[in-house]
Amino acid sequence: MTLAGKALLPARRSTGTAAVVDERPPAGVRLLEVEDLTVSYGGVRALSGVSIVVPKGSVVALLGPNGAGKTTMLRTISGLVRPDRGHIRLAGRDITGWAPHRVARLGVLHVPEGRGVFPSLSVEENLLMAAYALNGSDDVVARGVELFPQLGTRLGQLARSLSGGEQQMLALARALLAKPRLVMLDEISMGLAPIIVTELLEAVKKMAQEGVTALIVEQYVEAALGMSDYAYLLDKGRLLTVGEPEDLKRSGMLSMYLGG
Ligand SMILES: Nc1ncnc2c1ncn2[C@@H]1O[C@H](COP(=O)(O)OP(=O)(O)O)[C@@H](O)[C@H]1O
Ligand SMILES: [Mg+2]
Repeated sequence: MTLAGKALLPARRSTGTAAVVDERPPAGVRLLEVEDLTVSYGGVRALSGVSIVVPKGSVVALLGPNGAGKTTMLRTISGLVRPDRGHIRLAGRDITGWAPHRVARLGVLHVPEGRGVFPSLSVEENLLMAAYALNGSDDVVARGVELFPQLGTRLGQLARSLSGGEQQMLALARALLAKPRLVMLDEISMGLAPIIVTELLEAVKKMAQEGVTALIVEQYVEAALGMSDYAYLLDKGRLLTVGEPEDLKRSGMLSMYLGG
């Protein structure tokens, strides 16, 4: 494996199991740094010594087959799961083991698998809730509609009555309006029609162009790579490789582990 990529990423050295970070770029450049993370559920290992870096202003994709540990990685960063071992640093601060609300307060916004909306609130109320993270900005509804015009005709409707695609648009609008320091998206395209997926991922791309830092888990590998600066490939809780999208594609590892 010679895909260590840019100096911003941890160069890896094979030591049999865990990836080893042996380069230390300036702390300011690394918004998120996960080092040697090991996580289990009961006795079951979900992540084994995985290290990843998300440089500020970049989009990083986390790829891997089902059960690879992608969701576990996001849940552990969010503080929903406690690691057995390893460290999570945000802008140089060690946040390992912090409660979810404290991590959120630092600007880490996690859009979980499934639909990240309040089902029994209206579309407008869902957007207004996002404003709490915005220090009272009052144009969130207009800005949400600007992002996804389709939501404009649904403002009074309960979120639960929206189509799956519209619910994800709402979840994404909420996330983006909150101006997170780091947004983590877990398979927002799951179960949606390809045309909706394109629209959602375009919004993520737009967000990335505006400088939001993102860690994304996405089953549409091509689309994910198209908007990412780097990608990590996991399998069975271990880090297989990391690199820039073109390098990963050339390596053949994506098709080996993800098919097609
Ligand atoms: N709540 C849980 N309890 C027990 N095992 C779990 C739980 N969540 C995930 N796992 C296991 O951890 C591993 C990683 O799962 P997950 O992080 O959901 O992978 P991915 O998101 O890549 O599909 C899998 O083997 C899965 O079965
Ligand atoms: Mg998952």
